[in-house]
Amino acid sequence: MSDFKNVTLIKHPVVNRDLTILRDVNTNISEFRAAIKRIAMILAYHALKELPQTTFEVETPIQKTTGYDIDQGVMVVPILRAGLSLSDALLQFIPDARVGHLGMERNETTHQPEDYYSNIPDGVEDDMVLVVDPMLATGGSAHDALSFLEDKGAQHLRFVSLICAPEGLQKLEEEHPNVHTITAAIDDHLNDDAFIVPGLGDAGDRYFGTT
Ligand code: PRP
Repeated sequence: MSDFKNVTLIKHPVVNRDLTILRDVNTNISEFRAAIKRIAMILAYHALKELPQTTFEVETPIQKTTGYDIDQGVMVVPILRAGLSLSDALLQFIPDARVGHLGMERNETTHQPEDYYSNIPDGVEDDMVLVVDPMLATGGSAHDALSFLEDKGAQHLRFVSLICAPEGLQKLEEEHPNVHTITAAIDDHLNDDAFIVPGLGDAGDRYFGTT
């Protein structure tokens, strides 16, 4: 539970341990990548929970019974770069998911996102579209990404994130009230540089080794 209406906050001992590994400034790059991949699987599992299903008859070695399949296309849209750290987990569960990319870099002076790339496959109107980015700080990048996809006709949007600031969740609740967010942590606040506190630093830099 969280104070935000449209947010699933995952609480689990494994998630808490892995979040701690990610937050720890002394965690090396291989440990960081392993921990984020484990949490990404749990986030993906929860993010896919509302997928519609279809039923059909399947025959076990013993008798016929009801089988299930997923009845909606899935599109994963990582916000580059850091979103790439979460997208593979979704593809593990939905191997035929389409993948779109949105390149955005937050200007560290203005704190506004600057768009540098977009490539969205067909199917955005009907698919469940999962925008993934490990960090939601001011919410500017997620807001731009969701608005871009809404303008393209997306109707079944979800936002999957590792750590969110309340300021970013507030913005998404105001601007995208129909978009459900799945996250592993809601942190305390943003500092003067618009970094999440306590946070984990810059997820993209730590994941790709660019610090
Ligand atoms: C980080 C993060 C989000 C964004 C969050 O990316 O991964 O995309 O900033 O901030 P916001 O909610 O205030 O917009 P960054 O710009 O550092 O790029 P990167 O993914 O290439 O590291």
